[in-house]
Amino acid sequence: MAEAIVRDIEYTGRNGTVTIVGLFDIHYGARACAEDALAETVERIRTTPDCLWFGGGDMGEFIIPGDKRYQAQGVARIHKPEVQAEPTTSMIDGIVKALWPIRTQCLGIMRGNHERTIARTGGVAPARRIAEWLGTVYLGEQAWIALNFKRANSTSTQRFVLWAQHGVSTRTKNAETAMAALARTREHFDYDLGWAGHVHFLDAKVKTPLELSNERPPKLRQRPVFLAIGGCFRKDHPIGYDDYADQMTPREPSMLGCAAAIITPDKRRIKAEQWTFWG
Ligand SMILES: [Fe+2]
Repeated sequence: MAEAIVRDIEYTGRNGTVTIVGLFDIHYGARACAEDALAETVERIRTTPDCLWFGGGDMGEFIIPGDKRYQAQGVARIHKPEVQAEPTTSMIDGIVKALWPIRTQCLGIMRGNHERTIARTGGVAPARRIAEWLGTVYLGEQAWIALNFKRANSTSTQRFVLWAQHGVSTRTKNAETAMAALARTREHFDYDLGWAGHVHFLDAKVKTPLELSNERPPKLRQRPVFLAIGGCFRKDHPIGYDDYADQMTPREPSMLGCAAAIITPDKRRIKAEQWTFWG
């Protein structure tokens, strides 16, 4: 189910920027969750001027006793002790505490496949709970956010559309395949910023297709389109596989971090950044 919201965002100056960060695949509750890298990211978001963020799903690990993956694939061993004692509640509490310092900068919280399983079988919908505790909105598995930017002390407004989906491809071997799958979604969805996660790769770039202006004579203009594969905060996760059967096979560790879009609304410019950490 797609959720759609609109946010009015004020910024300052013709060259003023707004930074949008997507936090995907944190997997809080697993021993392998890079809580130190997450804390650094939270601090960076908190101290970056005019910075907003959204949660892209798989915020917590959310695999609990009774889940067929729990015993069969050794998930019990990879959970932190307090999570083993009270799984769902402690994962919700933990992620809310970790993100608490940046709650007022949050655009909303999406649901990933790990929250979906609990919502269907565990009696609680974790992504909705996390959103509620943080005082923000629930964005489903596919989110549309109209970012309406307004320059302070002027009538200048600009609209950028952000589209995000927890995942658009599974079992991709590399970031390029994931990026190609994301780029294809734009054949169906007309957005300025497109974001997806799930595969635990990190990549971000800006494409600049040309369009014709309304002026007479018309001019060719570049319209930036930001594309990001959202990264993850899970140290041990095999790259490109979101499957517990593969987790026990030693592989190269994921690159930890997230993607950020630096938007200069007045100039209709977008710059892509990758905020990376190694755990
Ligand atoms: Fe994930």
